[in-house]
Amino acid sequence: MNLPQTHARTEADRAVEVNLSINGSDVALALPARVTLSDALRDHLGLTGTHVGCEHGICGMCTVLVDGEAARACLLFAVQLDGAEITTVEGLGKPDQLHPLQESFGRHHGLQCGFCTPGFLMSSYDLLTHEPEVQREDLPTELSGVLCRCTGYRNIVDAVDEVAQAHRGALPGPANCGQRTLVGRTTATAATSAAVGAERTDEEELVERPQEIVLPAGDPTIHVDVTSQLTSAPDEVARVFGDVRLLARCLPGAELTDDLGADWYRGRARIALGPMRMAFNGIAHIEEQSDERIVMKGQGKDTGGGGAQARIVMTAAAADDGGTVLQAEADVFLTGRIAGFGRSLAGDVSRRMFQEFARAVDRAASGEEPTTDAQPPRAFSLLVATIVDRARQRLRRLTSRGESRR
Ligand code: FES
Ligand code: FES
Repeated sequence: MNLPQTHARTEADRAVEVNLSINGSDVALALPARVTLSDALRDHLGLTGTHVGCEHGICGMCTVLVDGEAARACLLFAVQLDGAEITTVEGLGKPDQLHPLQESFGRHHGLQCGFCTPGFLMSSYDLLTHEPEVQREDLPTELSGVLCRCTGYRNIVDAVDEVAQAHRGALPGPANCGQRTLVGRTTATAATSAAVGAERTDEEELVERPQEIVLPAGDPTIHVDVTSQLTSAPDEVARVFGDVRLLARCLPGAELTDDLGADWYRGRARIALGPMRMAFNGIAHIEEQSDERIVMKGQGKDTGGGGAQARIVMTAAAADDGGTVLQAEADVFLTGRIAGFGRSLAGDVSRRMFQEFARAVDRAASGEEPTTDAQPPRAFSLLVATIVDRARQRLRRLTSRGESRR
């Protein structure tokens, strides 16, 4: 792969102009030098077909073509690639004209959860264009640069082998490349027209204040009901309940940016669940606020096209030991990719976030800093803790089953 010129040393956050051809469309972006190609594709162009797993060049999920050669998008800085031609999985085929590899993966059930599929498709495409005579027995080794967590390798090999045999030396090219065919969910048009020197900012993503936050009808995606015992006295907790800015700082990853008056606030929240990184910009309305109870509604959009709405009720009551019992109840409605994360696991992560929140309220009530300022979201560790919890519960169940059999 011929990487175009490297840029001179630059400050990490200063935007650098980069011109790329993505799936045949010319794109001009202004990006901080530290932005990887995978982040530029996903977060700045909405091309979320390129999946990100390890971010260390190990798993191959993020494979794209750079100037016709397979490359790990997580290992390249976008600004290294000025002038490069990038092909992503979105460029491979159209919904009504899938690439033979895509059709074959479907026919042979070459995907289970689908997380590795874009990486396999782009790696297979690269393999069959460069080694059209590749034999079936060589495919496991040739494709070993991409890992499948679902371990469905046999079907993947079947799928690639069928295409190799059917198109020896004449593999059709990507079918969805050309000017104005950039398929993204968020900022593709902004990026193609005006991006140089005008990288999308949070301000451009501001969510307008609605007349009222109306929650969807029906059951929420997640219902959370968490009760926590705080050591702080009720009057100390009341001080936190009375200070919305302090309260917001107790929420992991949240930041209150504007007071819009009349109990309306604008803010943002960043969250990372494994490979998914989301930045929500949103609005919150405090509907009720007293020393013992706060009722609020909020709604936000994430830059990847997802959305969240919630009604949260928090109550504080005196505990027998002089501390406070804090109860947080929330109905959360999710759309987009976060909703696809899995209701059960998303629910567990939300509950852990509220437990973190309760601990932060306790710290704030006792006069300590609730969290370090601008603390990065801790959802990944929450996720890990959730998974560990589940493993423990399962182990406990197995152990008790074993004991009851004795
Ligand atoms: S995310 Fe790039 S190799 Fe794993
Ligand atoms: S199909 Fe799930 S990771 Fe490969």
